Amino acid sequence: MSNKQSDIGLIGLAVMGENLVLNMESKGFSVSVYNRTAAVTEKFADGRAKGKNIISTKTLEDFVGSLAHPRKAMIMVKAGAPVDAVIDQLVPLLEQGDIIIDGGNSLWTDTQRREKDLKKKGLRYVGAGVSGGEEGALNGPSIMPGGSEEAWKSVGPIFRKIAAIVEGEPCCRHMGPDGAGHYVKMIHNGIEYGDMQLICEAYAILKTAINPSAEEFHQIFAEWNKGELNSYLIDITEQIFTKQDEETGKPLVDLILDKAGQKGTGKWTVGNAVEHAVVLSTVNAAVEARILSSMKDKRVAASKILPTVEVKPFAGDRQQFINDVRDALYASKIVSYAQGLDLLATAGKFYNWNLNFGDIATIWRGGCIIRAAFLNRIKEAYEANPNLENLMLAPFFTEVFVKSQAGWRRAICAAVERGVAVPAFTASLGYYDSYRSACLPANLLQAQRDFFGAHTYERLDKPAGEFFHTNWTGQGGATASTTYTA
Ligand code: 6PG
Repeated sequence: MSNKQSDIGLIGLAVMGENLVLNMESKGFSVSVYNRTAAVTEKFADGRAKGKNIISTKTLEDFVGSLAHPRKAMIMVKAGAPVDAVIDQLVPLLEQGDIIIDGGNSLWTDTQRREKDLKKKGLRYVGAGVSGGEEGALNGPSIMPGGSEEAWKSVGPIFRKIAAIVEGEPCCRHMGPDGAGHYVKMIHNGIEYGDMQLICEAYAILKTAINPSAEEFHQIFAEWNKGELNSYLIDITEQIFTKQDEETGKPLVDLILDKAGQKGTGKWTVGNAVEHAVVLSTVNAAVEARILSSMKDKRVAASKILPTVEVKPFAGDRQQFINDVRDALYASKIVSYAQGLDLLATAGKFYNWNLNFGDIATIWRGGCIIRAAFLNRIKEAYEANPNLENLMLAPFFTEVFVKSQAGWRRAICAAVERGVAVPAFTASLGYYDSYRSACLPANLLQAQRDFFGAHTYERLDKPAGEFFHTNWTGQGGATASTTYTA
């Protein structure tokens, strides 16, 4: 081992770790690496790291000893217990002021706990969400770091240098204290779930109604990618339709089993939305769609029992229909982002994170999985009004609904008529229609609650805060109406 001290060290040489190391090195940083299985480190040292400014170490002692002060040790291992295990091993080797960075998809409450514990030991902790997969890690991810300001001062210059760049601006900004970075990354992933499901529903409607060939699908998505839907996920979808299976010569997508996996960040997002009483219906629909997809055997059995609908052959204007589905996708996507940002705002207030939505939209424009042209519009919306109540109310987005809502509704009707499940499209439209309704049927619901549980209700024609109870049956001795004042 040389005496040279590295700018940063990375523990965990799986796909993301390896590529982040190479990215850091390519930007002029010296990097030390350690992996629990020494053979992995050796393979990396003799392969992709060969001849590069990368120090391979065999023990954690050597690893820590090879780092310049204050030491920056980045962990890229599986979220959960493995992160705690590495921290426990690192802590006795570190000194006051050293920094541990967790770049995995950790649960933000774990990050809060770890930050608090390590602070007591004089160590700094950065929970950094890193998005962009293998390619992003190597060429420029979007990085969402949380932690103290001083920790950010030390790691920020490295992260901003290795992050993706959009219009000269690195896709990395300090998100806020303790778990803020991992929380923002979790919301990113929730939104990613929503985006992916919405694209899949667009595909399902088109397939059932007009049955485009793989080549036509490729063209449809290529066309959409030129407009307001321009994004990484539309781009890869376009490419997926061009891939042929080598064995059969058929489009590969048609041979893939329709059972979706999920590692957990989507479920965390939905669970936290429920805790904060924030509606996250699009992402929720996306998570549930993955769950339903995974029940393949049950679905196959049910498909033989439950009645289907008579599918009418499509008789309309094909291009108009494709445009309707595009509009449905765009409008639903806006709703999903509005919900995700609402949850961010609520959690941000709850934890005193002081989140900056302009910053978040800025760093999601490049490097990450949800990168999309329309994030520029979100950035502009929050720059124009940092206290925006709901993204749908930003003039630009309201105008999109004006233009797209007719097509959005037609596309959903076409899906419903044909028995195509479009849970994320309908959840989005349901939210839109509820949010824009001055009156909802909750008057009846309140009456029901009061009827069976004497839960009381307020009245439209009386001041807010004055509560009423009615004896709905006229039985039981109570008089007709009793007034309670809060
Ligand atoms: C990213 C991705 C990344 C990972 C997801 C996949 O931002 O780079 O979100 O974190 O691909 O965790 O999650 P699922 O396995 O749950 O789809």
